[in-house]
Amino acid sequence: MERLERYALENNIPIMQKDGINFLCDYIKNNNVKNILEIGTAIGYSAICMAKINKDIHITSIERDNNMYKKALENLKKYQVEEQVLVINDDALNFQINKKYDLIFIDAAKAQYINFFNKFKDNLTYNGVIVSDNLDFHGTLLLDEDKLTKGLKGIVRKLKKYIEFLKENEEFETHFYKIGDGISISRRRKK
Ligand SMILES: C[S@@+](CC[C@H](N)C(=O)[O-])C[C@H]1O[C@@H](n2cnc3c(N)ncnc32)[C@H](O)[C@@H]1O
Repeated sequence: MERLERYALENNIPIMQKDGINFLCDYIKNNNVKNILEIGTAIGYSAICMAKINKDIHITSIERDNNMYKKALENLKKYQVEEQVLVINDDALNFQINKKYDLIFIDAAKAQYINFFNKFKDNLTYNGVIVSDNLDFHGTLLLDEDKLTKGLKGIVRKLKKYIEFLKENEEFETHFYKIGDGISISRRRKK
């Protein structure tokens, strides 16, 4: 995976941080997760890491950028997980999906996290979880807003809103982890 990590770094492609992906893969192993929906494939790095855990794991991953999509397909073949990972080249917010997943991993446009969550929450199996990455957004959530560019300020505000949305959510309970770039795991409350 080091070659992929280097490629991402050299080409400025945001992939999961090492301790973040290790944490996610440990969760998948420990909880016997089999079916995963990923929002945001990029070059396929996290999908490959998750698929490599074992052959029974199947992933549907949605990527809207056509160049990323093509690169992901190449990489899935290279790492021999193309039969386990189905990549869909579409905007996740336009794509309709009926299948249920044990884990839904949100790692795409930060401004849309609430929309992704609401759109896909009904695609969870009974004990399924929604995992969200980048909740610290490289430490920017802790900075004074005056120090941020206009673009960053918008993303930071949206992420803060998402965190509030998770904290106040009556349907889901969320745990937050200071791992990688900030990860949360949300599970439907039992009635
Ligand atoms: C942070 S990268 C994903 C990294 C990947 N999960 C990994 O760790 O290897 C986010 C990706 O989400 C894609 N994306 C952003 N918004 C999207 C949307 N609405 N639907 C599908 N893909 C989206 C971007 O094009 C980008 O490639």
